[in-house]
Amino acid sequence: MAFTNENTVAKYKGREEEFHQEFEKALEKVRLGEEYPILIGGEEVRTGKTFEVRSPIDTSLVIGRFQMADENSVDKAFRVAREAYREWRLTSWRERVELAKRTAELMRRRKFELAATITLENGKNRYEAVGEVDEAIDYFEYYAYILQLNRGFSRDMESRMYKNEHSFSVMKPYGAWAVIAPFNFPLAITTTMSLGAVITGNTAVVKPSSDTPLSAFNLVKIMLEAGFPAGVINYVTGSGKDIADLMLSRADGLAFTGSKDVGHSLAKRLIEKDPRPIVMELGGKNPVVVTDKADLDKATEGVYRGAFGFGGQKCSATSRVFVFESVHDRFVEKLVNKVKEIKVGDPRKREVFLGPIINKGAVEKYKKFVDEAVKNGGKIAVGGKVIDEDRGYYVEPTVITGLPYEHWMWKTELFVPILLVGKVKTLEEAVRMANDVEYGLTAGIFSEDKKEVEYFFDNIEAGVVYANRTVGATTGAMPGVQPFGGWKHSGWTGKNAGGPYYLLSFLREQALTYYD
Ligand code: ALA
Repeated sequence: MAFTNENTVAKYKGREEEFHQEFEKALEKVRLGEEYPILIGGEEVRTGKTFEVRSPIDTSLVIGRFQMADENSVDKAFRVAREAYREWRLTSWRERVELAKRTAELMRRRKFELAATITLENGKNRYEAVGEVDEAIDYFEYYAYILQLNRGFSRDMESRMYKNEHSFSVMKPYGAWAVIAPFNFPLAITTTMSLGAVITGNTAVVKPSSDTPLSAFNLVKIMLEAGFPAGVINYVTGSGKDIADLMLSRADGLAFTGSKDVGHSLAKRLIEKDPRPIVMELGGKNPVVVTDKADLDKATEGVYRGAFGFGGQKCSATSRVFVFESVHDRFVEKLVNKVKEIKVGDPRKREVFLGPIINKGAVEKYKKFVDEAVKNGGKIAVGGKVIDEDRGYYVEPTVITGLPYEHWMWKTELFVPILLVGKVKTLEEAVRMANDVEYGLTAGIFSEDKKEVEYFFDNIEAGVVYANRTVGATTGAMPGVQPFGGWKHSGWTGKNAGGPYYLLSFLREQALTYYD
C-alpha cells in the first residue's frame, strides 16, 4: 500500500512531441455543441430549458447546451441521493476504496480527452490542464489510500471502564451533500469535494459552475461507469442564484469552493434551518515576501508563475509581493522582463502560457481594477491592457507598483492577472502586512537565510506555506504532498484537501458500546 502522484509531464520526458500530439488529437476528439442532460440516479433528465456555454478561447465555439435545473429536478436529485444513502452508508470502506481506484484507472485512460475539455472550457494551457487531470486521479488514489490506512476510521477504544464493556469509535456519514464547484479547477476541485463526500459513505448532488459544466459531467459519468451505484453521485446544472437555495434546503451537508462572500452567504443560509456540516475552501489574497537575502532569479520565477499561471484565477494565486526596499527595483526589473516574455493567446497553441480569462465579467473587473490602481497612485510596471474582449477574453498580465498600502485592492481578492508589488523595510513588517487581511490561504517567502524562513513559517497565518518555490510561489499544491486549505476567512474546517484529515470533515463520530 503506497501512494504516488500521477505526473504525466515527467512520464513524457524525452517524448515531448508525443505529449503534444496526444493532446492535440484529444482536442479534435472533444465533441462540441451537444446537449447534456442532468444525471439523477444514473438517469438522464431534461428540464425543457437549457443554457449555452461558450468557450472563453473563442466565443464562437459552443461547448454545449446544459439543463436549467428547476425545483422539481433539484428535489428529485436530493430524494434519489437520500434514498441511495440508506444502503450506501452501510457499504464497507473496502468496497468504496475499490471503486475509487477503478475510477482513477478509467480517468488515466482518458487523461488527454479530459484535459482537452478543460482547456476548451476554461482556457487553461495544456500543461496545466493535464496537471489538473493528474490531480483528480491523485484524489481518487490518495483518499482510497487514506481510507485504507485508517481502516475506515473506526477504532476499538480498548480501555474499559467495566470488565465486560467493549467500546468503539466509529466515523459515520451524514447523508446527501450539496457539492457546489468553481470554474477554475472544474475537474480536480469537483473531484476532491464529491469524492470526499461519497468515499466516506455519503451521497452527493454536484452542481458545477455554469461557466464549466462539462468537466463535472465527465467526472460523474466516469464514476458511474466505474461502478459507483446510481444515486450515490448526481449532477445538476443551472444558475447558482436560482438553485442554490433549493439545494441548501434539502442537503445534509455542503461542500463549496469559491469566493468568500458567496461561501459565507451559503453557509449562513445552510445553518439557518438547522446545523449541518460545511466543508469550504474560499478565496485568498496570497502574499509573497522577498527579502534582501533572496535569490532574485528564484523569486522572479516563482512569483511570475504564482501570479500569472491560469491568469491569477486560482484561489492560491500570488497577489501581493512585499519586497525589501534594497532589492525592490532590481526584483521589479527582473519580474517585468519575465512577464514581457509571457505568451498570451489561444491555449490550444503549444507555446501559449496564458490563455483567456473566464468571461466578460472578469474582463470588466480587470479594466476596473487597472483604472482604480492608476487613479490612486499605482504605476503599471507592465501590462494593463485588454487584448481582445470580443472573440475571446484576453488581457495582459499586469504588475502594479507603488499603490499606497491603504488602498482596498491590497486586501481584496481580484481573481484576474493583476499583481501588486510593494516595499517593506523588515521581515517583521512584511509578515505583519501579509497577515493583515481576512484571508489566510497560501503564502510564500524567498530567502536563502534559514532563520528568516523559520520566522516566516512560525508567524504567517495561512493554511499552505512555501519557501523558495519556483514552480509557483504560492500555487500548485499536490494531493498527498501539500494538503490544501485555508485559515481565517479562507477556509472552514481547518482540514485541508488532499491531506490526511480531509475525509474526517465528511464524517461524524459515534461511540458504540456493548456489554457481554
Ligand atoms: N490547489 C491549487 C493550488 O495549489 C488551487 O494552486
